[in-house]
Amino acid sequence: MPNNEPGNDGMPLATTFDPIWENIYADGKQLNLYPYSGVVSFVFRYRTQVGHADRLRILEIGCGAANNLWFAAREGHEVFGIDASSSAIEFAKNRFDAENLEGTFITGDFTDLPFTDNFFDFAINRAAISQTGGTAAKRAVDEVFRVLKPTGKFYNEIYSDTTTRGGRNGPDGVTIDITGPLAGVGQIKFYSRAEIGSVLFRDWTILELKHHTIENLKLSVPEIVGEWHIVAEKP
Ligand SMILES: C[S@@+](CC[C@H](N)C(=O)[O-])C[C@H]1O[C@@H](n2cnc3c(N)ncnc32)[C@H](O)[C@@H]1O
Repeated sequence: MPNNEPGNDGMPLATTFDPIWENIYADGKQLNLYPYSGVVSFVFRYRTQVGHADRLRILEIGCGAANNLWFAAREGHEVFGIDASSSAIEFAKNRFDAENLEGTFITGDFTDLPFTDNFFDFAINRAAISQTGGTAAKRAVDEVFRVLKPTGKFYNEIYSDTTTRGGRNGPDGVTIDITGPLAGVGQIKFYSRAEIGSVLFRDWTILELKHHTIENLKLSVPEIVGEWHIVAEKP
C-alpha cells in the first residue's frame, strides 16, 4: 500500500496508509464501540430525503472498528466498511457476527474503492482521510463521488489547521511526529477552509460547512482541536 510516487509539488507522496493504525488496533486500542454523535445526527437528518429511508446503503471509508456502522446496521441500513487495518476489520466482523448484524467489511485502501459507480445512498468519513496526504485524500473523495448515487450525501469530519500541534512537515502536506492533542495516531494533514472548498469538494454541492473548536482550558497552555464537519452532495 505504500505510495511514494512524486506528488504535484515534486515531494514524495505520504504513504496512503500509516501502519501505526494496524499497531493501534492490534494492541486492542481505539476499538470504539459506539458511534460519533455527528454521524448519528447526519443519518437521521438526511435519511428522509431518500425514498427508501428505512434501508439506505451506507459506506464508511476508514471505518475502523465499525462503531459508526454498528449504529446504522442496528437502524436497519445496509452497511459497508473499508479500512486498511486488517485487525480493525476482523474486530468489526466478529462484533457484527456476535450481535447477529449484517455488514460487508473489506480490508483495503480508500483511495481505490472496490464498488461499482452510483451504488451508495450515503457515505461517511469520520476522521479517516485526514490521516493521509492531500493527494491521496483527494483521490479518496473522488472515489466516494464515483460510488455515490446522484444526490447521494457524504458526511465528513476532517481536522482543521486551527488545531494546536508540534511536529515536522512530511510529504504531501502531512505533519509527522505530531505533539499536542492529536499525538500518537501517526501522520495527519490539517485542512484550511480554502482546501476544503476549492480542492477536496470542488465538484460537490456543499450542504453544510461547520467548524467545531474544542479547547482544553484545564492545561497551562490551552490545547485546541479544530474540526470541519461537512455534508456534501453529489449533484
Ligand atoms: C481516526 S480513525 C477513525 C475510525 C472510524 N472512522 C471512527 O470514526 O471511529 C482513522 C481510520 O482510518 C483508517 N485509514 C487510514 N488510512 C487509510 C487508507 N488509506 N485506507 C483505508 N483506511 C485508512 C485507519 O486504519 C483508521 O481506522
